[in-house]
Amino acid sequence: MNDPNFQREYSAGEKLLNDPNFQEGQEKCYAEILKTPKRTEIINFLLSNRNDETRYLEIGVRNPDDNYNHIIADEKYSVDPGYEYEENPVDFKVTSDEFFELLSNNKILSPDIQFDVIFIDGLHLAEQVDRDIINSMRFVKSDGFVVLHDCNPPTEWNARDNYNYLSTPAGGNWNGTTWKAFLKWRFNPSVNSCCIDSDWGVGILSKEHPIGSCIREVNQFYEFRNLVEHKETYLNLISFDDFKKLLV
Ligand SMILES: C[S@@+](CC[C@H](N)C(=O)[O-])C[C@H]1O[C@@H](n2cnc3c(N)ncnc32)[C@H](O)[C@@H]1O
Repeated sequence: MNDPNFQREYSAGEKLLNDPNFQEGQEKCYAEILKTPKRTEIINFLLSNRNDETRYLEIGVRNPDDNYNHIIADEKYSVDPGYEYEENPVDFKVTSDEFFELLSNNKILSPDIQFDVIFIDGLHLAEQVDRDIINSMRFVKSDGFVVLHDCNPPTEWNARDNYNYLSTPAGGNWNGTTWKAFLKWRFNPSVNSCCIDSDWGVGILSKEHPIGSCIREVNQFYEFRNLVEHKETYLNLISFDDFKKLLV
């Protein structure tokens, strides 16, 4: 190939793929992908521990075969505006903000409805996730759980703001800035919280269950490097086996 453009692009690509930082980022992503259990098993464990009929809400569903359809609950509801999956076979084809507004104004279901588990996995930007948590706290039972996907980004590329830029070691794996919203709630003394170290970090918030005490407010600028340095305490990272022991 003597085409100078091809040569230039080939060596640029080769340089990128051989960059040790790039390779380290890719390895961290692969390691995260291999972790178990997945979110589905964790959510089903929480629901199976309940004594009564169970009610589940999922915010952000995409293809329900990936998680929603495998969740075992007596009553289930799904919310998604359908940005990523054309068929979008959910109960409420709206954003989470619109869903909670309709719910609060008695336009859908009942404003008194209470869920055993609410799984937040919609738009992964801190402000939105924080709003989803605030709203979920109103509609989760006092002994129920709010569960968040994507709280433990393995690299800063997974934690980028812009989902659409894919030429990073994280590729299409996007956790966004969910971790910032979760950390904000780790500072809140009115909830207990921890993050299961699997499947990109499965954060759990509970008003009543002793799953982890809050921490003093630190990292006020939400720098990713500070998260890396203090991950264990910031997120209260815990294995699934140790988490199960907290609920017996
Ligand atoms: C990561 S996917 C959900 C994956 C699914 N929960 C699972 O476990 O396999 C994120 C979904 O959130 C939806 N979404 C995006 N913005 C949203 C919003 N503001 N409110 C609710 N859902 C949103 C997208 O349409 C997409 O289907």
